Amino acid sequence: AAPPPSGPGLSNVIRKKLMGYVGFANLPNQVHRKSVRKGFQFTTMVVGESGLGKSTLVNTLFNTTLYPAKEPLPPSAERPKTVAIESIGADIEENGVRLHLTVVDTPGFGDFVNNDDSWKPILDNIESRFDSYLEQENRVNRQKIVDNRVHACLYFIQPTGHSLKQIDVEFMRQLHTKVNLIPIIAKADTMTDEEIAAFKARVLSDIEYHNIHIFQAPTYDNEDEETIAEAEEIASKIPFAVVGSDKLVATPDGREVRGRAYPWGVVEVDNEDHCDFVKLRQMLVRTYMEELREYTNDVLYENWRTEKLLGMGVAQDQTVFKEVNPAARMQEERVMHEAKLAKMEAEMKMVFQQKVQEKEAKLKQSEEELYARHKDMKDALEKQRQELEGKKGRIESGRPLTPEKNSTRRKGVFGGR
Ligand code: GTP
Repeated sequence: AAPPPSGPGLSNVIRKKLMGYVGFANLPNQVHRKSVRKGFQFTTMVVGESGLGKSTLVNTLFNTTLYPAKEPLPPSAERPKTVAIESIGADIEENGVRLHLTVVDTPGFGDFVNNDDSWKPILDNIESRFDSYLEQENRVNRQKIVDNRVHACLYFIQPTGHSLKQIDVEFMRQLHTKVNLIPIIAKADTMTDEEIAAFKARVLSDIEYHNIHIFQAPTYDNEDEETIAEAEEIASKIPFAVVGSDKLVATPDGREVRGRAYPWGVVEVDNEDHCDFVKLRQMLVRTYMEELREYTNDVLYENWRTEKLLGMGVAQDQTVFKEVNPAARMQEERVMHEAKLAKMEAEMKMVFQQKVQEKEAKLKQSEEELYARHKDMKDALEKQRQELEGKKGRIESGRPLTPEKNSTRRKGVFGGR
């Protein structure tokens, strides 16, 4: 038998067969019950130029008139100068599962003569939601964290049939690391199937050229073939070419469907042969809503948070804890201040000792000099005293004072005798 996996950080794992039913197989049901009781929060943002069908599509997606259709502004009305951010919240319920849905709208996007910075207020809004989440995480009491972060951003592309416009590229480039981008070709009923296919290819190549990351349905190794095939099919439809309508219309064969009626026929919203609405709903609601929430939390928010804390000068996880804990932060600052004071004191002591040593050395030197001078003077005086003693002795004994000088004289004096 193969040895159990071991190594650094891995405890030995022993596979054991159970002797009977224990019950942890019921864990997924426990999680299910708990999450149904708690309900879910989901925030989606819609961005795109005015009149592309954003309100209609949101209503179509959630099958409710959550989003009131706005009357176009009369020509004389004062128009806002910047992109505004408006959000609408609604509690919806399906088969006992509650969902608190928030739709963030961005009226004014792309409506100005100069749209260079249209993305800025939207990025600010997304980041301020991250900020608010971080602030809640750092509270002493974290019982009721409200997750207002944007989990998905539906970006509406005008069905021009050409390629992405500068404003589209700029928006996606600026936002793709902060939000799950889901590009949508609006009002797809205005183009033929061939035009849509060619337009999709151009949009995708633009996205790839600009290294823009759009949300992809994830697949995991241990998943069954059906799930993988479903994810691949959804991925093959990106950017979703959609048709929105919250009105029921009658088809020639007598059915009532959500769609748009034209003189030549009916475009059905929920018909996969007519548009990608069903696949979009699968991506956003039915299959990958939890993945969108998870990716927002684990990747987008986490990266933003790391960057933010690094920007604040926090270098390591340990320090991060202190940074977000005011008491620990004050303590750390006090310790740092005390260490600084102690260092200054030590430096001052060293300078003082150095000065004292220098002074002592100087004093010692002058003392030695004085001593030497004193000794010289003493020697000179002693010599003088001895000379005087000699003179005195000679005077007393009647000998001449300077024997050398008087030697001839002495010779003369005494020699003559
Ligand atoms: P603002 O509120 O100005 O931002 O517009 P909006 O993007 O929310 O557009 P809205 O949903 O109000 O739709 C604008 C017009 O487009 C309405 O007359 C809709 O009926 C129409 N419309 C919406 N969706 C579609 C669509 O898929 N195809 C077509 N042909 N028209 C649509």
